[in-house]
Amino acid sequence: MNKNMKAVILAAGKGTRMKSETTPKVLHEIMGKSLLGYVIDNVKNITDEQFVIVGHQAEKVEEFVKSKYSEIGAKTVIQSPQLGTGHAVSMVCPFLENYEGQILILCGDTPLIQEKTLNEFIKFHNDINSDITVMSTLFENPTGYGRIIRDQDKHLKCIVEEKDADDNQKKVKEVNAGIYLLNWAKVKDVFKDLKPNNAQGEYYLTDIIFWGIEKKLNVNACMIDVVEEIYGINSRQNLAVATKIMNKRKLNNLMSEGVTIVDPDSTWISEDTIIGQDTIIYPSTYIEGKNVIGKNCKIGPCAHLRGGVEVLDNVKLGNFVEVKKSKISSNTNVGHLSYIGDSELGSFVNIGAGTITANYDPLSKIKSKTTLKDNVKIGSNTVLVAPVTVEEGANIGAGSVITKNIEPWALALTRSPLKILSDWVKKKIK
Ligand code: UD1
Ligand code: CA
Repeated sequence: MNKNMKAVILAAGKGTRMKSETTPKVLHEIMGKSLLGYVIDNVKNITDEQFVIVGHQAEKVEEFVKSKYSEIGAKTVIQSPQLGTGHAVSMVCPFLENYEGQILILCGDTPLIQEKTLNEFIKFHNDINSDITVMSTLFENPTGYGRIIRDQDKHLKCIVEEKDADDNQKKVKEVNAGIYLLNWAKVKDVFKDLKPNNAQGEYYLTDIIFWGIEKKLNVNACMIDVVEEIYGINSRQNLAVATKIMNKRKLNNLMSEGVTIVDPDSTWISEDTIIGQDTIIYPSTYIEGKNVIGKNCKIGPCAHLRGGVEVLDNVKLGNFVEVKKSKISSNTNVGHLSYIGDSELGSFVNIGAGTITANYDPLSKIKSKTTLKDNVKIGSNTVLVAPVTVEEGANIGAGSVITKNIEPWALALTRSPLKILSDWVKKKIK
């Protein structure tokens, strides 16, 4: 960890183009994790404190940061009203009056950036003793992004926003990624000097470039070639594109590590899912949130893992099996059409088709746990009404509703006796 670097993450904007009444832009999700979550995760190892600037629907973003990231040192700072990206960063000034280290600035709506790229960016800044560095890249279609303007000698001059750009500037394909590294002590005074002299009447963070050059600081743009990492989310269309990019990246990484993905076009696996070697993921499987899957497992086709799932080695989760917040030990099979939630399954457990762990009481809204010890066999179409434990080696007959704990090695079944009425059909049709 770089003990001398803090992150400022801009997340106060309205996100008008998302057209969302209920959710602030940065809390929209890609496979079970919010945009802001991705950004914080990418800086948590390289910074010792993270300031998230909040404003629009601040309470929701504050609650998110507090519940998920307060232990790593993330905190929120209110920006109200929201007068632009430069104004947003200035909100941290009171907290950093005597701070001598570096400030890494990112946008909460740019979730595809990766720690590796950030490290290269930081290295570039340090290697040339830069005071202000902005990350840039070349976009075939730069519409909407700030343009990097350089002079004849290719030296960085300023950044011009789309709305302020003339026709020549609009043709520039080098864009501002919205990621900056500042040597704080030298740059903090800029926030007293920013003026909203532009088409949007906002305090632009991008104006620090021009300011730095005027003050004879070492100001640079670091052009990176991983274009997709810069992709910002401003609309639902952007969200769908980013989800695809993120998924493709994850599947490629998994395949490189020895996981078989039978059909990458129909498989979705979240960034925070770890999968062991020689596991096979069959088509139309959707895995969201944080999960760990062991080696030599078979998952799907059409399996749905919803997060908090830990699967040890040699496990089979078959067709139309949904699993949430559960631990499944090695050599266990959940073959077909089952729901396993808030459960712990031992080794060599066999779950018959259509088995349900009834974990949720909608009246009390309480979720309860199902425990199946090693070697338990559950007959098809069983409902396990939680809280319930089936002890080691016990068998459950098909079609049972289990409402009590079952002792080891017992057979338990709830079933009305089978009646056979001879010639009943023949008599009926007569
Ligand atoms: C910004 C940059 C642009 C760059 C692009 C990269 C400026 C002026 N423009 O444009 O050069 O190419 O990002 O994605 O900086 N925010 C606040 N408070 C505010 C305004 C915005 O916290 O008062 C936050 C937003 O929530 C968002 C981020 O800042 O996370 C960027 O704001 P946005 O309005 O999306 O800027 P862009 O128009 O994309
Ligand atoms: Ca943006």
